[in-house]
Amino acid sequence: MTQAADLLDPAERLDLDGLRALQLERLRNSLRHAYENVPFYRESFDQAGVHPDDCRSLSDLSRFPFTTKADLRAHYPYGMFAVPRERIRRLHASSGTTGRPTVVGYTENDLSMWADMVARSLRAAGARPGDIAHIAYGYGLFTGGLGAHYGAERLGCTVIPASGGMTSRQVTLIQDLKPSVIMVTPSYMLTLLDEFERQGVDPRSTSLRVGVFGAEPWTQDMRREIEERFAIDAVDIYGLSEVIGPGVAQECVETKDGLHIWEDHFFPEVVDPITGEVLPEGERGELVFTSLTKEAMPIVRYRTRDLTRLLPGTARVFRRMEKVTGRSDDMVILRGVNLFPTQIEEIVLRTPGVAPHFQLRLTTSGRMDALTVRAEARADADAATREAAARSIVQAVKDGIGVSVEAEIVDPESLERSVGKIRRIVDLRERRG
Ligand code: DLL
Repeated sequence: MTQAADLLDPAERLDLDGLRALQLERLRNSLRHAYENVPFYRESFDQAGVHPDDCRSLSDLSRFPFTTKADLRAHYPYGMFAVPRERIRRLHASSGTTGRPTVVGYTENDLSMWADMVARSLRAAGARPGDIAHIAYGYGLFTGGLGAHYGAERLGCTVIPASGGMTSRQVTLIQDLKPSVIMVTPSYMLTLLDEFERQGVDPRSTSLRVGVFGAEPWTQDMRREIEERFAIDAVDIYGLSEVIGPGVAQECVETKDGLHIWEDHFFPEVVDPITGEVLPEGERGELVFTSLTKEAMPIVRYRTRDLTRLLPGTARVFRRMEKVTGRSDDMVILRGVNLFPTQIEEIVLRTPGVAPHFQLRLTTSGRMDALTVRAEARADADAATREAAARSIVQAVKDGIGVSVEAEIVDPESLERSVGKIRRIVDLRERRG
């Protein structure tokens, strides 16, 4: 599908020089806004001996200090806001699985910019005004539901605010209301797949044309699985609440070659996770974002902990980020070897007789850590197929990742299903003193 040029935003039609000039002007304003209105930024810039006026080119940004999740936690709940509380129209918060949650806020202009970015994302995904969009990201403090919702309305879609959960009703809604677009986590899409099959409805027969999947890592193999089983296009949407929510970057349906970062609003860098040094385009490292237009909560060099690399633009002038392989926090170090759940996902999805449901169980075996890949058998897999699948997973992990694991093929429908972001790692290791 080609993208008719008249559907694009003015910023999507800029050339590279125009884009860089716009970014520099916005960056300088945003650094000033943060410095003048958030005591945390004033202190951290002063401590690092930099002033917003020192930012004369985009590369000068690397002289400014990073902001981390711990900084946001330390200023919970309102300490990072740059406008009076009365100008904040909405709050969202991260789930806060470890320690305090982080609260983020939006002014009216921020909410409007966010809706524009999600609308732009949906357009890149192949959605058009008049489409019916089924939103099964959770509504509430999580940014997925409401973020997707207002963006889809902004584009001119008819929105079904399904939220997550009540899986059998989701299938009924899709059957009856006939959406062409679905927005949901890829793992919950698999839960929906099971439910379609349970209800005896062919998932390839629905009105769905495109799925916009994000909020968690997913692989090219998962894309193939979802595209084939549902007969839809599956594209990737990325975002995080600290930066805005969904709609920071989006894959274009016509290329499916990584996610274009909407860098007229969110300026990306990739840094070495250990040294913090800015890496050249094409090198893998930790993604860092600086907001260029946010009012309520400007964010300067925020360490996302997401691992990826930057690539030049293709379908758009904006740079792309490669599909996120994982977060540094999700990395398992097993006997000195680094391992990400996405690597196991690729292996599981290529193993005959195994369904796309798996879990990684970490245990202690003597003085060592051990990892068991627990994957579900497909309904038609006999005992011999299951045994062969377990052997094949062990071998593929050994060959591809270089570490020994165990594999257990469990009965169909025995692993926990996702209703939102899935938890892949179950850590049962003994705590050592
Ligand atoms: O997950 C926002 C979102 C909602 C994005 C819906 C896309 C769709 P948080 O809850 O703050 O916000 O979690 C952000 O989720 O730092 C990544 O680790 C992960 N993440 C988000 N999108 C992707 C993606 C939302 N497409 C964290 N691929 C991020 C891989 C993703 N990881």
